[in-house]
Amino acid sequence: MKTTTITPQQINELIKNRRTIYPHECTGEKIDDKIIWQLLENATWSPNHGKVEPWQFFVFADDKRKELGNFLIKLYEKLTPKEEYNQKKVIKLRDRMSQSSHIVVVVAKTNQNPRIPEIEDIEAVACGIQNMQLSATVYGLASYWGTGALVYAEETHVQLGLSENEKIVGFLYLGVPKDGLIKEATRKPVEEKVVWIK
Ligand SMILES: Cc1cc2nc3c(=O)[nH]c(=O)nc-3n(C[C@H](O)[C@H](O)[C@H](O)COP(=O)(O)O)c2cc1C
Repeated sequence: MKTTTITPQQINELIKNRRTIYPHECTGEKIDDKIIWQLLENATWSPNHGKVEPWQFFVFADDKRKELGNFLIKLYEKLTPKEEYNQKKVIKLRDRMSQSSHIVVVVAKTNQNPRIPEIEDIEAVACGIQNMQLSATVYGLASYWGTGALVYAEETHVQLGLSENEKIVGFLYLGVPKDGLIKEATRKPVEEKVVWIK
């Protein structure tokens, strides 16, 4: 059965060439909303157990990026002990908003079907993020999957009006990469990670 015209070489190359590209490596230019919609739809083609379709997205663009940044800065100031406070982190939180085009907060709606373990809904949503990152690569766009204390904070859940069963899986920062950006990456040989049972 052949279900696609994409060649094995093309998918191998795409998977290998997908790179995390951070907002500070972006121009701040706006991506057409139509492309963002396509990426979001592609996310929803990831596998999901029980067909519960656990993906939920909150998209921040234009002025809403700054509002999100201000919220994260206030939260950082609230959660960070004085001796750990770092002004550079605040500047980074602020700047990454204007350097990005869209920021997608990706949420897993868990427990819609009590027979499906929560981790499986989160896994399906993580696969969706991978779909978006691979799609972004083909569109020549930057993507960065960010997590951490601010992303997982209770305050962030409350701000988005999430219920107990809705979990933030990450913030996906999307942008236009600066011209000439080359990102190298390495992986250890796959043979180190495989036990081939014979
Ligand atoms: C679940 C998850 C959470 C991540 N969170 C962060 C993060 O908070 N900060 C960060 O710099 N990168 C984060 N990343 C991106 C990784 O740093 C990145 O994938 C890694 O450096 C490998 O680079 P590559 O994506 O170009 O292969 C995360 C990736 C995943 C899968």
